[in-house]
Amino acid sequence: MTNQYQTEHYRELDALHHLHPFTTHSSLRAGGARVIVRGDGPYIIDSDGHRILDGMAGLWTANLGHSRPELAEAAYQQMLELPFYNTFFRTTHPPVVALSRKLAELAPANLNQVFYGSSGSESNDTAIRLIRHYWALKGEPKRRIIISRKNAYHGSTIAAASMSGMAHMHAHSYPLYEGFRHIMDPYWYGESWDGETPEDFGIRAARALEEEILAVGPENVAAFAGEPVQGAGGVKIPPESYWPEIQRIVDKYGVLLLADEVITGFGRVGTWFASEHYRIRPDLITFAKAVTSGYLPLSGVIVGDDIVEALMAHDDDFNHGYTFSGHPVACAVALKNLEIIEQERLVPRVREFGGPALAKMLAKFKDHPLVGEVRSVGLLGAIELVADKRSRRRFADPGRVGLICRDHFFREGFIMRAVFDTMVMAPPLIWEQQQFVEAEAVIGRVLDLTLEDVAGEVAA
Ligand SMILES: Cc1ncc(COP(=O)(O)O)c(C=O)c1O
Repeated sequence: MTNQYQTEHYRELDALHHLHPFTTHSSLRAGGARVIVRGDGPYIIDSDGHRILDGMAGLWTANLGHSRPELAEAAYQQMLELPFYNTFFRTTHPPVVALSRKLAELAPANLNQVFYGSSGSESNDTAIRLIRHYWALKGEPKRRIIISRKNAYHGSTIAAASMSGMAHMHAHSYPLYEGFRHIMDPYWYGESWDGETPEDFGIRAARALEEEILAVGPENVAAFAGEPVQGAGGVKIPPESYWPEIQRIVDKYGVLLLADEVITGFGRVGTWFASEHYRIRPDLITFAKAVTSGYLPLSGVIVGDDIVEALMAHDDDFNHGYTFSGHPVACAVALKNLEIIEQERLVPRVREFGGPALAKMLAKFKDHPLVGEVRSVGLLGAIELVADKRSRRRFADPGRVGLICRDHFFREGFIMRAVFDTMVMAPPLIWEQQQFVEAEAVIGRVLDLTLEDVAGEVAA
């Protein structure tokens, strides 16, 4: 049983011994962490017994929801059979072979081989190394620059953080890894000119890539990297014109395309990979998170045939890998996770039910005085909080109102994340009508509570 005493006990020890990711440590120590003790389908339960609707699927991970016994059973059986063996030195094992085969089947046709890691950050580090290695093997070693976008999130290792476009991460004092350039992100609500249509804006945002390629010299550009939908940057959904134009540009200059599908992979937007939804033809896809619904850490890069051919054409080692590349238990859990997603038709269900239900629910809030825009694609959604919805004017001190709103959500038993003043959500794929009804009621209450807190700052 959990009780108040245990909550205080965990909080105290947590504050003394645990450094949390992406956290202001002084304020966490002062306020204490929320202690989560259990998961139950779409809900998580804290140490005081509160049942909380998880609108973020863990951290864009739990596509199947929490605590499915089949995944625990798959892990248990694999631990009894072969808990670990490495995949270095010409060894392999059945779960990694089966999962690789499955991922090749689900990915676009030209992507057939998988290199594994344990986190999204690692998968992007691997992709960066593969991309540069590829160009060296092709006799074009000058092609080293990777262009990505402002507000992109590709991970927190130094290479992945350098490829990311998060100014607050770049502001840390370590030197960034060299060879990355960042262009504008396709954020229509925040970046479009007065009267510019989403389609025109999408073309303009994509052409920033062409300008950058020409500025640094096409002979120096190795790849363009992008999340099909920017997630941690604020669920920025590109206009329909954006990705086709990006594809045209990478094709024209022979630049590789890396699709970071760490959030969008495995059904989130209603296709197995969002590359399919946006009809892009990536040379590499990075994945993590929902491949196991987050039950165990596993990530990887699905690598295009051209890159694999270049590797095959040379006798040298590719000097890269992780102890846990292709961990057998993580692979077994991933296989079971993908099997259930397939059996329960959860990917088409996002198109037929979850995506439309989320869009319909969010649309109910578009006239709220605090709300500048609502948007969604599949089960990725966002609500922009603004001081003046007519002029799109933001609140002073970006992030302050988002945190007020997020804290109300916590207290009301719903998880929605604040990216500055954009509230984002990514519920599990298993949400039923009941969860949308609950979410709608809470969002309505919380927007009103937040409005009360900042009423003096909001345009009438
Ligand atoms: C698109 C994207 N890429 C990479 C990462 C990094 O993944 P990880 O935290 O597993 O290293 C994330 C994490 O949220 C992400 O959203």
